[in-house]
Amino acid sequence: MTPAASAPIRADLLSDTLTRPTPGMREAMVSAEVGDDVFGEDPTVLALQERVAALLGHEAGLFTPTGSLANQLALRLHVRPGEELVCDSLAHVVRAELGAAAVFSGISTRTWSAERGLLDPGGPLGLLQTGVGPYQVCTSLVVVENTHNFGGGTVQPLGAIDAVRAATQPLGVALHLDGARLWNAHVASGIPLAEYGRRFDTVSVCLSKGLGAPVGSVLVGSADSIAAARIWRKRYGAGMRQVGILAAAGLYALDHHVERLAQDHDRARRAALAWAQAAPGCVDPATVQTNIVMLDVGPLGWTGPGLSEALVAEGVRAYAAGPSRVRFVWHLDVDEAATAYAIDVVGRLLATPPA
Ligand SMILES: Cc1ncc(COP(=O)(O)O)c(C=O)c1O
Repeated sequence: MTPAASAPIRADLLSDTLTRPTPGMREAMVSAEVGDDVFGEDPTVLALQERVAALLGHEAGLFTPTGSLANQLALRLHVRPGEELVCDSLAHVVRAELGAAAVFSGISTRTWSAERGLLDPGGPLGLLQTGVGPYQVCTSLVVVENTHNFGGGTVQPLGAIDAVRAATQPLGVALHLDGARLWNAHVASGIPLAEYGRRFDTVSVCLSKGLGAPVGSVLVGSADSIAAARIWRKRYGAGMRQVGILAAAGLYALDHHVERLAQDHDRARRAALAWAQAAPGCVDPATVQTNIVMLDVGPLGWTGPGLSEALVAEGVRAYAAGPSRVRFVWHLDVDEAATAYAIDVVGRLLATPPA
């Protein structure tokens, strides 16, 4: 999946999880005030949780080591064993959390197809079934991903979320937002984080992707649901001690790395424009809304893994996101020079497919 480097890597667009803490972030980590977070006594963790909850318009927050755990805690809260969640077929919770919902919580899953991961209310609404008693599986939760990773960084429209909420709320079906990259959606759309957040019962956000922290996510929700999530976090073995050191990186990122995401978005858009010109049809630049460019390289004669290997040989890393797709992700550690280099190398390879 991830080709080994054969040339010095000059543009690493494999993932926005690759970022290394900046000197300022490291300083903030070193000087963080800490305490035992299992006892709720780490002031820096408490500050981060409160800040993220307030930003997202929720009562309380819980620091977790990963976005996957934040999602899984939410699923556990909303869905009882034997019930189901519904999400789109490329959502992280169903595609990349290694069956955790089934393994840990006894949850079954059904999915809808979504072009570019874009939420069309007809998708979830066509699947919902409640009150189906002893005959069929009851739907307890709809999960929405924003931005959509494998959809190519797609920003979900508020109107579609509202339509889903209007249908689920009267049925008692909960809504969870996998907002690993909600920061990108906020910066790209100008919509306040709380406008997204308040439409959901729970929201998970990651500090370790575009924001550049080495570790950490936060799950937000009502005070009661976060108190319950706290118990499950400990039960899963993820009660942590002096992790103010890590929370400090998250607080630093909120202060310094949110607005700069616009720069990643701009670079991604410019790359998409250049590549669409070099190889018409591989991407529609109008669909590139945030920091991710997903190229459809099959029609050009490339396979996803083939192109990603050829790129590594030229010092560019990207992710083969399927047999004929390659994903490029901009982040804090991809500067203007790396962007220019990637635009050039990828454009050239796209225009000259393998024999
Ligand atoms: C959309 C989305 N949700 C959740 C996660 C999980 O985050 P983590 O790798 O911290 O478990 C990711 C990771 O890439 C993601 O892209």
